[in-house]
Amino acid sequence: MEMNLLVLAYLFGSVTFIVGLKMLSNPASARKGNLVAAAGMTAAIFATIFLYTDKNGNPLGNYLWIFAALAIGSVAGTSMAKRVQMTAMPEMVSLFNGMGGACAALISVIEFGHLQEKDPGTLLIILLGLIIGSISFAGSMIAWGKLNGKIKDFSFGGQHIFNLALLFFILGIATYLVAAIPENMTLLFYGVVALSILYGVFFVLPIGGADMPVVISLLNSFTGVAAACGGFLYENKVMLTGGILVGAAGTLLTILMCNAMNRSLKNVLIGSFGAGATAGSSASFGGTYKEVSLSDAAVVMSYASKVMIVPGYGLAVAQAQHVCHELEKTLEAKGVEVKYAIHPVAGRMPGHMNVLLAEADVSYDKLLEMEQANEEFKNTDVVLILGANDVVNPAAKSDPASPIYGMPILEVEDAKHVIVNKRSMKPGYAGIENQLFFQPKTSMLFGDAKKALQELLAEIRSI
Ligand code: TAP
Repeated sequence: MEMNLLVLAYLFGSVTFIVGLKMLSNPASARKGNLVAAAGMTAAIFATIFLYTDKNGNPLGNYLWIFAALAIGSVAGTSMAKRVQMTAMPEMVSLFNGMGGACAALISVIEFGHLQEKDPGTLLIILLGLIIGSISFAGSMIAWGKLNGKIKDFSFGGQHIFNLALLFFILGIATYLVAAIPENMTLLFYGVVALSILYGVFFVLPIGGADMPVVISLLNSFTGVAAACGGFLYENKVMLTGGILVGAAGTLLTILMCNAMNRSLKNVLIGSFGAGATAGSSASFGGTYKEVSLSDAAVVMSYASKVMIVPGYGLAVAQAQHVCHELEKTLEAKGVEVKYAIHPVAGRMPGHMNVLLAEADVSYDKLLEMEQANEEFKNTDVVLILGANDVVNPAAKSDPASPIYGMPILEVEDAKHVIVNKRSMKPGYAGIENQLFFQPKTSMLFGDAKKALQELLAEIRSI
């Protein structure tokens, strides 16, 4: 009876993971999807604690340890998640992901201690979980440190060759262990732990800080695979399903992010984005740009029939999403149609703009994906760009020497007027100048996004 209940709980957990993941793909259902998957995970955890019995029918026991760990983890996780700033999300995801990798590696360490029969299949799974989990743990910790500014980019000549050699060395030791199963494996086993951690560190250290979201997504998929190895070891179906889902979703997300930036994963891992920009492309346009006064911007927008807002990283940094929503409501009250054009990699993490605008209660049906937005720009009177730069840079279409050449962009130039809000003429993430700012139909509205929007709002209200 108990066994059946356990299987049912695992089935429930697996189904909720899949349903939850599906719901995460739409901003309207994403929050609920998260809760659905979390409910499944909670059911699976408590079912394991109370219903699992070993081959001899003994329950799990160790309840004090288990609940103490659960309490510490829940309190720490909840308080961190409550306090985190939206712009620091990739950092926190990285930290949590690293903990997942460490768990998977520790499972392998414990199960290595329990290994009685010299079964190569089990040893193979233990080593896979150990290597992938340790790399994910160490890599995620470095990514976390880089994102919060505590660790600087570091590389040395020939590092990629060194990294590859290190990886082959680790795989070589692991293959030897599985093939030969020597009498005393302990030293080599812990050697694999140490070298895998070292590899994780060297793998992530040279990657440009701003490429971290892609790397974190990749490491996330590693953690999933490492957890799936744990599922194999314990014959635990829900752990296996969860691990495989995380592994697959992480891999897909990595590919999607790379595609949206028109970069190969190899380029992210061994090249640095901005590097070719200053060297090779027609980075400097000089030329003149024109500024627009707040009152002029307010008039153009108030008398427009359609305004499209393009949010970018700067909007997130300035935390200007609420005042942006206010602006949208005020314009709509004046009969102006307002929509948002969302580029898939605007900001610094997947779905950044959707999450940001959802936080400010912007209605989902106002958010247009890139393809839809590009259709609508030609019927748009004013495009208001708020702290976005690369995602509206026409060099992506016109300058083969540009590092972002080929990246799909929001074609804002098709609109009648373009107003760009940023603080200066400085480049964005890719480190390149933007010809859009020098075009006749573009005018610059300099200032911090929140402050500029507050002032613009006041002007519009006074019209
Ligand atoms: P960016 O190209 O980085 O441009 C952001 C602009 O915001 C900057 O030029 C900056 O100019 C301005 N800014 C900064 N703080 C501001 C503030 N307080 N108020 C107003 N403006 C401010 O951003 P984007 O257009 O959103 O493009 C995203 C970039 O990140 C792309 O290159 C993308 O490939 C990359 N990326 C994205 C992701 C994901 S998944 N979203 C992952 C990795 C990399 P000033 O300094 O002059 O103000």
